[in-house]
This record gives sequence, C-alpha cells and structure tokens, in this order.
Amino acid sequence: MAKRVLTTESGAPVADNQNSATAGVGGPILLQDQHLLEKLARFNRERIPERVVHARGSGAYGYFEVTDDVTAYTKAAFLSEVGKKTELFLRFSTVADSLGGADAVRDPRGFAVKFYTEEGNYDLVGNNTPVFFIKDPIKFPDFIHSQKRDPFTGKQEADNVWDFWAHAPEATHQVTWLFGDRGIPASYRHMNGYGSHTYQWTNEAGEAFFVKYHFKTNQGIRSLSAEQAAELVGKDANSHQTDLLQSIERGVNPSWTLYVQVMPAAEAADYRFNPFDLTKVWPHADYPLQRVGRLVLDRNPDNVFAEVEQAAFSPNNFVPGIGPSPDKMLQGRLFAYADAHRYRLGVNHTQLPVNAPKATVADNYGRDGFMATRNGSRHDKNYEPNSYQGPAQTDAALSAPLAIHGWTGTHAAPAHVKDDDFFQAGELYRLMSEDEKSRLVSNIAGSLSQVAREDVIEKNLAHFAAADAEYGRRVEEAVRALRED
Ligand code: HEM
Repeated sequence: MAKRVLTTESGAPVADNQNSATAGVGGPILLQDQHLLEKLARFNRERIPERVVHARGSGAYGYFEVTDDVTAYTKAAFLSEVGKKTELFLRFSTVADSLGGADAVRDPRGFAVKFYTEEGNYDLVGNNTPVFFIKDPIKFPDFIHSQKRDPFTGKQEADNVWDFWAHAPEATHQVTWLFGDRGIPASYRHMNGYGSHTYQWTNEAGEAFFVKYHFKTNQGIRSLSAEQAAELVGKDANSHQTDLLQSIERGVNPSWTLYVQVMPAAEAADYRFNPFDLTKVWPHADYPLQRVGRLVLDRNPDNVFAEVEQAAFSPNNFVPGIGPSPDKMLQGRLFAYADAHRYRLGVNHTQLPVNAPKATVADNYGRDGFMATRNGSRHDKNYEPNSYQGPAQTDAALSAPLAIHGWTGTHAAPAHVKDDDFFQAGELYRLMSEDEKSRLVSNIAGSLSQVAREDVIEKNLAHFAAADAEYGRRVEEAVRALRED
C-alpha cells in the first residue's frame, strides 16, 4: 500500500515534521515555515467552550425499536409501527463538574437521546432522575452557580450547595433521591433514564395526551456507595467512559426498555397535584407504565470531539405528534439549549454530521453564518414564498393546541389540591429499607455537616422533617454527631 503523504491544511506535502525551518543551523525560526505556523496556530484553537452544565460525558450510537403499538396516543412516524427501527445517538453526562471532572461522583446523570427520525431529529434530553431540584427556569442559573465550583475557592462548596437548597424547599424530593443509593450509578449502563418533564403527545385524530418517559435499564440498576465511589475515582476518574466504551467494543450492547405514563389531556386540570411540576412523579397506580420499545447502543463514536463534544441536543427539537407541555422548566429549556449551541458551536452546528438529520434532509431558507456547508445551490431561492418549487409549509398542525386563559404576570404555578413540596420526598423515604435509610441519612449528614452556618443547616433540617418526622430527626442527630466530633 502506498504510504500516505502528510500535508498542510491546504493539502500541500510536508517535507519535515520534526525540524522547524531556521535561518542557518541553530539560527532563529523563519516566518515562511507554513507548516509550523499552521500547526501551532491550529493547536491554540483546539478547545471550544465546554457545556456550561453536563460538560463531562460519553456517547454512543444505536437504534430504537418499537415493540408495542402506541398509535392511539401519538402520530409520530418513528413510533407508528411495531418493529420499526430508528437510528439514534445518546450522550450520558454528569452535571456539575467541568470537562476534566471524575465520573463516579454523587450527581444526577444526563440521558440525552437524539432520534434521527424520518420527520426530523427528535431530541429527548433527560436525566437518570424522574424529578428535578426546581420548578421554575428563572432559578436555574442560581441553582447551577451554587453547585459548581465556587468563584473564590475554585471547588464545589457544601456551604453554597446547601444554602441554595435551604431556599428551595421544592428540592427536597430530588435531594432525597440524590443522597440515596441511586445517587452514584456504578456506570452509565446500570441506571435508568427519564424524560422527567411531562410532554404532550397528539394522535392522528388530534387528541392530546400528557406523557412521561421512563427508560428502564436492562442491565439492572447498580450503584456505588460513597466509599466505593471515592476509591474508584482514585483508580479511574473516567470509569463510566471506560465501562461504556469497552462494553460496546466487546459487543456487549447495553439496552433500555422505554415505557410511558399516559394521562388524557382532560385529566390534567383536576389532578390532585400539578402534573407539570418537575419536582413530582406521577404514581404508577394513577398512570401505569406502558411499554413502547427498546433502545440499544451498539456503536462507539470514532471521534470523541467530533461526535460527543460537538453533539447538540435541544428539548425544542420535536417531531409531529410530540410537543411540549406547559411545564415552566421545560418552557425555559426550549430556549436555553439552541442558544447554548449557537454560542458553543456556532449557528451552523445543525450541519455537523452528529447533529444533522440522517433519515431526512433539512430544507429551508436559513443561510450563511460561520462554517456553512449546506447553503443552497444556484437552483435554490433564499426567500419564501417563491415561484420556484422551494420548500413550503405543510399546514398540518404538529401537536394539539392548548387552551389558555388568564392574565400575563409572574405567577406561581397553578394550585392543585395537594401541591406541597414535601410529601413525595416523605413517600420516597418511607419506601426505603432500613439499610437504605441509614445510608441516605449518613450521606446527607456527611455533606450537610460541613456547612459553616447553623441557620443554613436548620433550614435544611426543617425540610427533611417536613417530609417525614423520623427522616428529619435522624438527619439532625447524624449532623449533630458529626459536628461534635
Ligand atoms: C430551566 C432549566 C434548565 C436549563 C436552563 C438548562 C440548560 C442547559 C444548558 C445550557 C445545557 C448545555 C447545552 C449545550 O451546551 O449543549 C444543558 C445540558 C443538559 N441538560 Fe439542562 N437545563 C435545565 C434543566 C435540565 C433538566 C430538568 C434536565 C433533565 C431532565 C436537563 C438535562 C440536560 C442534559 C442531559 C444536558 C446535556 C446534553 C448533552 O449531552 O449534550 N437539564 N442544560
């Protein structure tokens, strides 16, 4: 086989990749050494801004296969037939730390899926937790500032983490989840994924349903104790990446079964708590899990930067038959992601191979900007409407409309009969075995006891007590014991 020739970016052969051109032996370097200039300049520009959250992650390709008929609820083409397969890309992530952080930490995990459907890409950007810490997007930047590295100490500070939660009673459910056994997954393969928000499905007849997505791991749930995690982080900071990569390379393809909970749209208004409140789950007794299909990961990306770092998921990428609910958090996210992508990757990030549709083509009048590769030809007009066979709207509604009434203003969420911030945290606590409860209490106390201010500790203890009196008492005793040490 002919030896491949090393070239410059413009394709010209490189004569020497080991010695820069100099003015004589031992003399200064010549400005005319194009290969050296290009190599150094290009190297300086290798990094792009990391994601402001979920910076650290791992991704893989695979497919989704429909196993059960859900056409009564959605007209989405990729879910239209049992046996139908759709290619996808999934990126897992931790949330709080930077790109160089460790994998085996107590933190939610991202579970972001891009389905390359024939009606365009559908992005379901979820987590491994069915709920979240807050329920209004206006709190998100403050929340994240409190969880990421402190601007002075340069590391996560228990003082900030718990001070935010002291002011966010609605976080008690998710905090209970996070400090429980599932708070540190053993790997990305051994955890569930959730859409977390309520979404809207619309069927062919135009009927609307609210749905929640649950991806149940077929590998079984496996988690790490705080001690196991601390040891693993020291041995292999990239433990989740190592596990996912190696398992797929070995042909041991991880899979998840997708279930949905389905609520007829008319039931939402009178449900006993706000069904669009991201800090709450819908009890399965009210809305049982209905199986939809199987998600399988079977191919590692060839290049982490091109395919994982440049992957861009937006909760606003829907397909006909699937749309948003009025969940305020979701509504905020519909803006935040594509805006982040335009900053992080540029306006033409949708043209990168990992982000571009695969089962259809993007065909519109968006043009130009940095790095445009799909920009129309001499036959394409760049305005619409036109008289030249350019792409035109379908006039087919994407999802059923929502009836809205009331006044504009900065409203709290609509009140339902049982909307308090604590009862589901209490229910989760009471579901746990005695061992699980002990580990939960000890994990919380280990962190909360590091907080300097007594009033911040008190406020958090009050939240646990409001969830369950015993829970509150045990956390309080454990915190006091550690602080007296
Ligand atoms: C209002 C609340 C939220 C805001 C404003 C927000 C904003 C963001 C932003 C700006 C990014 C970085 C995107 C990028 O650079 O590509 C991101 C990543 C991510 N967020 Fe959120 N987020 C919110 C809540 C949530 C919730 C509730 C979930 C899960 C249910 C979630 C899951 C994710 C995931 C999985 C990623 C990583 C996506 C990937 O792998 O590229 N976020 N978020």
